[in-house]
Amino acid sequence: MVFKEKRVFALIFLASSVFCEVFFEENFNDPSWRKRWITTSQRYYNGKPFGNFNWTASTYDANDKSIMTTDDNSHYAISTTIRKFSNRGKSLVIQFTVKFQTRNTADYDAKYCAAAFLKLFSPDHDPKKLNGDSPYLIRFGPDTCPTANRIQADIFYKNKMWIHAPRDYDKKIYVYTPMPFIPDDSHTHLYQLVFHPNLTYEKRVDGKLIVEESGHMEHGWQTHPPRRLRKDQPKPSENEWDEREYILDPEDKKPADWDAHQYVPDPYAKRPDDWKDDVDGEWEHPIIRNPKYKEEWKPRAIKNPKYKGLWQAEEYDNPDYKEDPDLYVIPEVGAVGFENWQETSGVVYDNVMITDDLEYATSVALPIQKKAYEAEYKVFAEKCEQERIRKVAERKKIEKDHKRLNTIAAASNPSRHDEL
Ligand SMILES: *[C@@H]1O[C@H](CO)[C@@H](O)[C@H](O)[C@H]1NC(C)=O
Ligand SMILES: *[C@@H]1O[C@H](CO)[C@@H](O)[C@H](O)[C@H]1NC(C)=O
Repeated sequence: MVFKEKRVFALIFLASSVFCEVFFEENFNDPSWRKRWITTSQRYYNGKPFGNFNWTASTYDANDKSIMTTDDNSHYAISTTIRKFSNRGKSLVIQFTVKFQTRNTADYDAKYCAAAFLKLFSPDHDPKKLNGDSPYLIRFGPDTCPTANRIQADIFYKNKMWIHAPRDYDKKIYVYTPMPFIPDDSHTHLYQLVFHPNLTYEKRVDGKLIVEESGHMEHGWQTHPPRRLRKDQPKPSENEWDEREYILDPEDKKPADWDAHQYVPDPYAKRPDDWKDDVDGEWEHPIIRNPKYKEEWKPRAIKNPKYKGLWQAEEYDNPDYKEDPDLYVIPEVGAVGFENWQETSGVVYDNVMITDDLEYATSVALPIQKKAYEAEYKVFAEKCEQERIRKVAERKKIEKDHKRLNTIAAASNPSRHDEL
C-alpha cells in the first residue's frame, strides 16, 4: 500500500517535470538578442517619434544585461517572432521584470509617466509594422502615471478587447491612489500573469499574489453575464423578516435619579439687596452647568432574538449565461514584444518568460529579481545617506555664516545691541 502511494507520487512528480514547457524565454544577456528582436520601421505614431532601446548592464552583475528605453516623450515598439504555441489544456504564465529607473522615489513623482507592457501577438504579426494600433492577444504590465497607476492585463476574446476590471473593484481603478500594486520605487520588480484551465487567474508582483486582482476570469474581465440572478421580489416587512441585528432592550428602565438637565439655576445666586427693577431691569436667576448632568438616557442595545440576517431575493440560474471552458485559451501565439508610450524613459525590461509552469517560472526569475533589488536598494540607500550628509553640512554652514554676521553687526554697533 505504502509502496503504491510512493509510486503514484513519483509518477506525478515525473509527469509534472516532463510536461513543464517553456514557450519563450529572453534574458537579453547575449548580444544576439539584436538579431531576434526587431524594432518597428515606422518613424511616427500619433505624431510622436519612436524611441531607442539601449543594452545596459544591471547594478549587481555586469554580465546580466537588460534593455532600456532612452528617449522621453516617445513610443517604443520592439518585438520578436517565436515558435507558435497555444496554452490549450495548460496554464499560461507570462512574466518579466521592470525597473522604472528614473523615477524619483524620494518624493512622489508627479511628472513620472511610463507604461511598460509586454504584448503577445498572433503568428501573422509583422514586427516592422508594430505600432499602437497593432492588434494583440494579451497586454500585460505596470502603467504608472498620475492618471493611471495599475498593472494592466487586457485580453482579446471573441473578437473584442477586454480591459481587466474586477467586478467588485471597478470603482477603484482609473483613479489615482498612491501606487496600489506597483511598488513605489525605482528598483527591479517581477510581474506575473497566470491563467489556469479552471478559469482562474493570478496577478503576482515579486512572487506575491495580489488577491484583489486575482480570482475567476469571468469576474476579472466581465466577459460573461452573471451565472446567477436574483428574483424581482418585494422586500418583506420587518415583521416577516427582521434585519435588525441589535435592538433597544425593552426591559431596560431609566434610573429614577437620572438627571437629564444640562443647565440648572445657580443655587448660590440670589437677588442683590440693592437691585432696583425700574433701573436695573427684571432680575433673572443665573443658570449654571448641572454638575449631575448625564446625557439623554437610552436603553441598552441587545441582540435581536428575531434577527434573520440581511434579506436577499431568491437566486436562479441565468438563462443567458453559458460557461466557456476555453476562456483561458490563447489559440495561437506567434510573437512577443514591448509596445508602449513613455513620457519618461529609462524603463528597463528583462527576464521575459512564457511557460505553463508558475513554480518553474518563479524559481528562475525571483532569485534574479531579489539580487537586483538588493543591489539597487544599496545604491539608493547610499545616495540618500550622501544627500543627508550634504544637507547637514549645508545647514551647518548657514548657521556659521549667520553667527559670523551677527558678531560683525554687534561689534560695529554695540549701543544698538544694548538697546535690544
Ligand atoms: C545609450 O547607449 C549609447 C551608446 O552606447 C550611449 O551613448 C548613450 O548615452 C546611452 N543612453 C542612455 C540614456 O543611457
Ligand atoms: C485552479 O487551478 C490552479 C492551478 O492548478 C490551482 O492552484 C487553483 O487552486 C485552482 N482554483 C480553483 C478555484 O479550483
